[in-house]
Amino acid sequence: MESVLLTLAYLASGVLFILSLRGLSSQETARRGNLYGMFGMFVAVVATAMSNHVDAYVPLIGALVVGGAIGATMAARVAMTAMPEMVALLHSFVGAAAVLVGYASYLGPEAQAATGGRGILLGEIFADVLIGAITFTGSVVAFLKLRGNLSGRPLLLPGRHLLNLTLFVGSLVLGVFFVQADGTDGLWAIAAMTVAASLLGVHLVMAIGGADMPVVVSMLNSYSGWTASAAGFMLSNDLLIVTGALVGSSGAILSYIMCKAMNRSIWNVIFGGFGAETTVKTYLPGEGGEVREVSVDELVERLLHAKNVIVVPGYGMAVARAQHAVHEMTQLLRARGCDVRFAIHPVAGRLPGHMNVLLAEADVPYDVVLEMDEINEDFPHTDVVLVIGANDIVNPGAQTDPSSPIYGMPVLEVWKAGLSVVLKRGRGAGYAGVDNPLFYDENARLLFGDARESMDRVVTALKAGR
Ligand code: TAP
Repeated sequence: MESVLLTLAYLASGVLFILSLRGLSSQETARRGNLYGMFGMFVAVVATAMSNHVDAYVPLIGALVVGGAIGATMAARVAMTAMPEMVALLHSFVGAAAVLVGYASYLGPEAQAATGGRGILLGEIFADVLIGAITFTGSVVAFLKLRGNLSGRPLLLPGRHLLNLTLFVGSLVLGVFFVQADGTDGLWAIAAMTVAASLLGVHLVMAIGGADMPVVVSMLNSYSGWTASAAGFMLSNDLLIVTGALVGSSGAILSYIMCKAMNRSIWNVIFGGFGAETTVKTYLPGEGGEVREVSVDELVERLLHAKNVIVVPGYGMAVARAQHAVHEMTQLLRARGCDVRFAIHPVAGRLPGHMNVLLAEADVPYDVVLEMDEINEDFPHTDVVLVIGANDIVNPGAQTDPSSPIYGMPVLEVWKAGLSVVLKRGRGAGYAGVDNPLFYDENARLLFGDARESMDRVVTALKAGR
């Protein structure tokens, strides 16, 4: 393909990726945004394959078919609750690919033949391998932590900040040797730097506690973008530079937004240590006060007399796959003239937008799904709040208990409603592993059982008009 045509194709892909991000910013346009992104990637792959640099079609097609089949199978099989793990794993592939491409570029004929500008090219290779190695090992550790193969507790080595600094500065010093070396003499330096950067990636993520994992996954997303951008400079590929910058900056912005939602400093998250005192525990009857249970019949009675209801979905709704039953209940109540709305906390569930995706899948209308800031002031005027498998995001301790690891995190103030009913299976704590004073509040009731089964029973009772 002519280079002008290739540039035009890359430009079209870049525009499609920008439109994709724009579309993904709201639920109504998210599907369209996804389509733009898929089409942009299709144009990019076809244009690159047809460019003058590419002639090894057999391995290329083989890799596309095998990689595409594995990716499609993984995506089709993954449960929504396991999505963060999959995203972390995919980021690790970006990091590994960047490291391999960096080595290939260094050992390949172009870097060796380059005379003018060799220093700049080697600097780009260095940056690509450095960020790629951190992204690779950091993402693997995040994947293992999210899967539960590694403990969610932060690993706090003595002098850990000094260790990070030593690994980082040591990598930069090796970079100086690497850039100055002739031929392939700098191989030892880049290999040593790869080891140091890999250790840095492991240590950075090991030091971060479970409650901060969503931000870590988003930060790794950002790192993978900057890696791709560095690879773009190295390979003189404009599209990689633009796409990498889009991913890098959007990941960084998302991390910032999530930190704001949890009232945490981004530096504090990146350098870890949060949640050190957290132990996963269950609450015991009487430990924090009296727990009051409610029966399905009592709940339905209250719902039938309620003028307005707010549903707060959380991680347990995803586990139970209760969203369809929740929507059915919403339709029944709305048909009786009750105003039913949904309150979405920015970090409800286990991935950004988790609840929005589930509610969209169940066809809940977008206009009744409100963000925390839009609805938090309405709880005092609400008759009944249904907390479906949520815990940390409705914990009043985040406002009142300075010793709580989630102190300062903005929460949905459900305890201000006339009645709040929490659906949960038993006495399990939430993700942050802390007790929740809401369960002992005099306006709160617990409906024990799997959220899906409880909602099915509520729907049956509502249909019977009881
Ligand atoms: P959590 O605090 O994790 O609470 C979930 C609750 O659901 C648990 O108390 C559990 O109690 C209950 N549950 C589990 N399975 C259930 C089922 N089948 N039926 C009924 N209840 C069930 O969830 P949340 O309130 O959504 O808060 C999210 C937490 O995850 C925050 O701490 C957040 O920082 C963290 N996090 C968020 C993300 C993102 S980006 N959203 C990513 C990773 C982590 P039982 O065991 O007693 O049933």
